[in-house]
Amino acid sequence: MVIHDIVIIGAGLAGMRAAIEASRAGLDAAIVSKIYPVRSHSVAAQGGINAALKDTDSWESHAFDTVKGSDYLGDQDAIETLCREAPFDIMELEKMGAIFSRDPEGRIAQRPFGGAGYPRTCYLADRTGHALLHVMYEQLIKHDVVLYDEWHVVKIVVEDGRARGVIAQELSTGKLHRLHSKAVLVATGGYGRVFKTTTNALSSTGDGMGLALDAGAELMDMEFVQFHPTVLKRTGILMTEGCRGEGGYLVNSRGERFMSKYAPNVLELASRDVVSRAEQTEIEEGRGVDGCVLLDLRHLGADKIKERLPQIRSLAINFAGVDPIEAPIPVKPGAHYSMGGIRTDLNGATTVPGLYAAGECACVSTHGANRLGGNSLLEAIVFGRRAGTGLVSFCDSNGLLPFPDAALKDAAHEVADIIKRDGGESPAALREEMAGVMVDHSSVFRDRTRLTLGLGKLRDIKERYKSVALTDRGDYYNNELLHVLELGQMLKIAEAILIGAIEREESRGSHFRTDFPLRNDKDWMKHTIVSLKDGEMRIGYKPVTVTRFQPQERKY
Ligand code: FUM
Repeated sequence: MVIHDIVIIGAGLAGMRAAIEASRAGLDAAIVSKIYPVRSHSVAAQGGINAALKDTDSWESHAFDTVKGSDYLGDQDAIETLCREAPFDIMELEKMGAIFSRDPEGRIAQRPFGGAGYPRTCYLADRTGHALLHVMYEQLIKHDVVLYDEWHVVKIVVEDGRARGVIAQELSTGKLHRLHSKAVLVATGGYGRVFKTTTNALSSTGDGMGLALDAGAELMDMEFVQFHPTVLKRTGILMTEGCRGEGGYLVNSRGERFMSKYAPNVLELASRDVVSRAEQTEIEEGRGVDGCVLLDLRHLGADKIKERLPQIRSLAINFAGVDPIEAPIPVKPGAHYSMGGIRTDLNGATTVPGLYAAGECACVSTHGANRLGGNSLLEAIVFGRRAGTGLVSFCDSNGLLPFPDAALKDAAHEVADIIKRDGGESPAALREEMAGVMVDHSSVFRDRTRLTLGLGKLRDIKERYKSVALTDRGDYYNNELLHVLELGQMLKIAEAILIGAIEREESRGSHFRTDFPLRNDKDWMKHTIVSLKDGEMRIGYKPVTVTRFQPQERKY
C-alpha cells in the first residue's frame, strides 16, 4: 500500500492544476491516470480560454454572457468566481510558460467566440489545450508530483462517510494497488464517448462521475449535454469555434447563411445550443448537404487560415479530403461537453467528506444548461486551482484514517468475476449499441416518447452488460477489461442523462424538448440531482443561485 496526502484521479488540466496548488502548499500529491498525462483530453481543446483582460471589457460582462449562455441555470456565485478570477489565472499561465498568440501591439490576442459580447478568448492558434497541457505537465515535474500513469481507478474507497483513497489497477501488469490518502480529487473529464458522434477522445468515458456516484456523491444537471455545432463529417473531429470566431460562415445546400434566420444579430456567433439546433433544423428540413451543413472559410484567405487555423486545415485535408482554403468543410453537431457532473461547492468539495471534484467531471455549476466556448479550459484552471486550495485546508484539519481491509479483496473479486465469465456478449458491440441509442434518442432535439424508448433500450443493455465476456483473459495491458469497466460507468452516465431529460419538461439551453418547446422558469429553474440509493438512481432538485442577473428571454 502507498500513502499520499491526496490522490487525484485524472491528469488533465484540472487535476494537474490542483496537484500543483496542493504541492506548492507542501502536500504530497499523487496523480493516477489511465493514460499518459499529456494524452489527456484537455490536449484536444482548440479555440481558446476566456478572460476579460482589456480595459474595455469587464469580468461582470463576462459573467453576464456566461449566465445568459447558461440559459439562467448556472449558479451565479460560481460564475462570478470564474470570471473574476480568470485574468489572474491567464497571467499565471503565461508566467508558467504558455506562449499565447499576440496582437499587433504584442499583447495576448483575443478572438470573438459564440455567445460572448466581447472578443475575450485568448488562444494559441488552434492548439490552445495542447499548449496549456504541456506547460502544466512541466510544472508537475517541477513540483515533484508523483504520477501513476496507465493506472486505472476501479474504486474510490469510502468508509464511515469519508473518502480514504482508491483502488487502482496497473494496466501493464493487471495488479491491483491500494492508494491510501486523506482526500481524493476526481478530475477525469467528460463522457463524450457515451454518444456515437463525439469530439471526445476514446478515453472520455465518464469514469470519475460513475466512481463518485458509487462513492455516495451526487451528480447534478446530467441531462444537459453540449452538442458542438462544427464536428467534421463522419469522424467526430472538432472544427473549432475559432473558425467562426475568425469570420467563417455556415451555409446550407442553397448557399444561404442560414444563421440569419435563427440568430439575426450575431449569426454564427450565437451560443452553441442555438447554432446546433439551427443546423439540425436545416438538415432535417432538407437543406443539408449529405447529412451536414458547410463551414466556409475561403473568404478568410490562405494567410489567415494558415496562421490562425493551421490544425483545422490539416485535419480537414487529412480526414475529409477538403482544403478549407479552396472548399467549404462539411460539419454537423456532435456531443462535445458535459455541463452536468459531480456536484461540488466553490472549492471542489462534494457532499462526501474528503471527496473533491474539478473540471468537466464536476458541476459547480458555471455552465448551467449550456456552456460558452472558451469557458471550459478556464473552468479547469480556475476550479482546479481552487480544488487544490480546498484540499489543502481539508488536509490541514483532517488526518489519515485507516484504509478498510476488505476494499482490495472486494475489488479483486469484482475484477476476477468479469475475467472468468464465459459465453456472454461482446463488450465492444454493447458499447456501440449504447452509443447509438444515445445519439438516436437523446440528441439536439428530444421528446418524451423518444427519450423513454431510449431508456428502455438502455436498461436492456444494462441487463446484458452483467454477462459480457472477455476474449482476453491475460494480465498485461488487458484493454478489453478496461473497456468493460469503462462501459459499466458509461451505462450509469447514460441512464442519469436520460432520466433527467425525461423529467425536465421544458426547453433550456442544450436540452430542447419538442413537446415542451419553451423555457419554464416557474417550475424548472432548478438543478437536477441524481444520487444512488440501494443501487437505484434517485432524482431530486436544488434551487439555482441568483446574485445579480435576473432571468430574461435569451436572444442572439
Ligand atoms: O470550438 C472549440 O475550440 C472548443 C472550445 C471549447 O469547447 O471551449
